[in-house]
Formats: sequence, C-alpha cells, structure tokens
Amino acid sequence: MESGGKQVTFQLMLAVGAAVIGSLQFGYNTGVINAPQTVIESFYNDTWFDRYQEPIPPTSLTTLWSVSVAIFSVGGIFGSFSVGLFVNRFGRRNSMLFANILAFIAAALMGFSKLGASWEMIIIGRFVVGLYCGLTTGFVPMYVGEISPTALRGALGTLHQLGIVIGILMAQIFGMDVIMGNASLWPILLGFTFIPAVVQCAILPFCPESPRFLLINRNEENKAKSILKKLRGTTDVGADMQEMKEESRQMMREKKVTIPELFRSPLYRQPILIAIVLQLSQQLSGINAVFYYSTDIFRRAGVAQPVYATIGAGVVNTAFTVVSLFVVERAGRRSLHLLGLLGMAGCAILMTIALALLEKVAWMSYVSIVAIFGFVAFFEMGPGPIPWFIVAELFSQGPRPSAFAVAGFSNWTANFIVGMGFQYLAELCGAYVFVIFTVLLLGFFVFTYFKVPETKGRTFDEISAGFRQGSGSNPSEKHSPEELNSLGADSQL
Ligand code: GLC
Repeated sequence: MESGGKQVTFQLMLAVGAAVIGSLQFGYNTGVINAPQTVIESFYNDTWFDRYQEPIPPTSLTTLWSVSVAIFSVGGIFGSFSVGLFVNRFGRRNSMLFANILAFIAAALMGFSKLGASWEMIIIGRFVVGLYCGLTTGFVPMYVGEISPTALRGALGTLHQLGIVIGILMAQIFGMDVIMGNASLWPILLGFTFIPAVVQCAILPFCPESPRFLLINRNEENKAKSILKKLRGTTDVGADMQEMKEESRQMMREKKVTIPELFRSPLYRQPILIAIVLQLSQQLSGINAVFYYSTDIFRRAGVAQPVYATIGAGVVNTAFTVVSLFVVERAGRRSLHLLGLLGMAGCAILMTIALALLEKVAWMSYVSIVAIFGFVAFFEMGPGPIPWFIVAELFSQGPRPSAFAVAGFSNWTANFIVGMGFQYLAELCGAYVFVIFTVLLLGFFVFTYFKVPETKGRTFDEISAGFRQGSGSNPSEKHSPEELNSLGADSQL
C-alpha cells in the first residue's frame, strides 16, 4: 500500500483484527439483551412457578430483569478499573488472551441457565461477561493505539468502535424470533459469546506484543525492533524507535503514575479531565437509551414495526462508523467530536418535537425515526469512536494504564446510570425526556470547544509535551487548545 508511516501490513491488520474481536464481544453483549426480553422473562416466570408454586409478582419480574440488564455495566465498572493490574504485568497481548477465560465462564453460565433452571446463572453470567468487556474497553484501544503508526492511529482506533457496532448489529439480527430470539434458542443466543472467544484465542498467539510495551516497560530493545519491522513492513524503523526511546526517557523521569497522582500532578490534571469528560460526553449523550430501549421508544412514538426500526438504527450505526473511519485522519478528532455533539443535540430537539406533536400529527412517528437515525449517525461521527482511542493519545506510556482505568470507570458508570435511569426519566418527563440529553450535549460541546486539543498527526510525545508546556508552574495558566494545536499539528477541517 502506501509508503512511509502509512503502510497497512498484514501483521498490523492481523493484530488489530484479533484485538477488535474483543470489541465485538462488548457490542454483542450490549445489544443481546434487548430483543429476547419477553421470552427470557417468561422463563423467569416459569422458573419462579416451579420453585414457589405461584406466578412471579410483576415487581419482582421487573427487578430481576433490570438487574439482569444492568449487572453487565457493574461488571464493566470493575473490569475497566482493573486494566492497570494486568497490562504491565502480563503485557497487552497476553492480557487480552487470558481475559477470554471470563468469556468462556460467562458463556457457559448463560448458555446452560435454562437447563439449570436458574436465573441466577444468567445474572452471574452477565456480570462475568461485563468484567470481560470492561477489561476489553481498556486493553483493545491501548494495544491498537500502541502498535499503530501515528498517521493511522485514529483510523485504526476507530476499528474498536466498528467492532462494537457490528457486535450490536449481530445481536439485533440474531435476536429476531425467527433466528435465536425464541423460547427454545435464547440460551444459544446468550452463549454465542463463546464463539468469538474461541476465534480470538486461536489468532492472538500469532500476534505480536506491543513494541512500545517491550521497549519502554521491559527494556527489550531488540525484540521491540524486530516486531516493529514486521508491523511496519520495512527495516527502516529508526524514527519509530527514536520516538519510543524519547517517551521512555520521559517515563524514567516520571516513574510509574498511580491513579491519585493523575489528579494531583498538574502535568496530568488537564488531560485526565479531558479524558473523563469525553467519556461522559459519549455516554450521557443518551446513546444507550437508544441501544437498550429503542424498540420501546419507537413503539411509544407510534412506529408500526419497532423491531425493524431498531435494526435500522443498528445499520445506520454501522454505516456511519465506517464513514468516521475514513474521515477521522483528515478532519481531525476535535472537529468531528464537535460536529457529532452538535448534530446529536439537533436530533434530540427534533425527537422532542416529534414526541410532543405525536397526538396531533400522525406522521410525526416517521419524524421520530429520522431523528433517532440522525442521532445515531452523528454519534458515530465523533462521540462514539473518539473518546475510546483518544485516551491512548492524551497520555504517555507511564500514566497510560492508570488513565485507561479512570476513563473506563467513568464511561461504564455513566453507562450504568443511563441504563438504569432512562426508563424512570422517560416516565417522569414524557415527551421531554430528550431535552435532558440536549442540555448535556450542548454542555459537552462547549467543553470540547474550549478544552480539547487536536491530536491528529502528532506523536504521543508531542501531545504530552503540549500538556507539559500548558501545565506551567501555575496550573490555571494553561495554553488554549489552539496553542496546543499549533504544536506539530497540521491544519484542521
Ligand atoms: C460506544 C459506547 C457503547 C455504545 C456504542 C453504540 O462504543 O461505548 O456504550 O453502546 O458506542 O454504538
């Protein structure tokens, strides 16, 4: 393909491809619980009847179901927070490999839950697969960010999100009642997570460890160099090695950075704040209100075939992630994130209008479909993919694992809040529930505009140098994003 720093080699694609199977697992388990809700609920009811000789009280059923859905994000919170415990000890690749044990355990628990007549097995299985996905949301962007050439870091980083959205779409399609979302096959639908785990275990051993990890954390220069040559498809890896050594020297000075230090040190305070707010902007945009509850949202908006509209949202979601993949290196992260947030806010307003006028104007149900599709499309332009991979860009090797833990924790906690809270809020606010997201989205737009620097085309070292300069002796005297941008960045959108 192209020469220089943009070469897409087989080794690179194999490594990225194997890693993003983890992202697919995350998407699959996010989406899988939506369609078969009623069939699994009736299994809960039957099991309850066998145990207690009476039908399950409606409130107990609601509670059991909400717990089954939301325990996944609780697992995610714990998993993402533990990322740092693994990556420096076992390396990036082996951490991804070992994590599959969790996917196997979860698949067995959920897949045999019907045989075992046990909803407990589903709930524990969802928790365990949540642990796995929490780890994945740290491991994958970290590994992909570290092995990618600078000029392709955004595009390859977006593949994590592409894996997620394809996973969601697969779950939506498999979950249709003609496929696996029916009374006899739902355990296979849930246990399916076993298959990608097997595939990943088969491919990962052929993938290289992150050369950045080998050089900076393990000081294995020769190994790092030979892997880098294969990844880049050239023997001329001097510039990459130089850059990593520079980062290594910087890290010697910094030592290992713990989570509390991220907040205490003026060097990291600004990037960690940016990382956290970007994660919050992704989740509090309301995107998972759509992916957990879209069928219900469409039904309330008077859509005749809500399940198909949900699958439509999954298709739009995937299509626009692909668009983002192609524009992220050209347009830049900051511009795309701003565009995405603003577009989502516009669509949230449109959705509010559609819901408010529904009683009087019947065709508003179509407007609601346009609004939700637009909402999802704008999400994938920026707020979907960018927060995941930008964390690797904002931090150098020393603080990176701690930063991933904090970012992942913020993301999963916000995910949990939306997943648990949306239905109550929708009840409380009726047609106006999307106004809450509009306000939040506009707030995140303002923050991004004033605080987030462009990271496109800049090496990790240049990016952290930008923050080092910006942190000065007086932390309040920071450089503006424009000043940081001028540091080695080419022009934006
Ligand atoms: C992002 C979010 C995830 C969401 C998905 C939708 O990856 O992290 O929670 O479900 O996008 O595409």
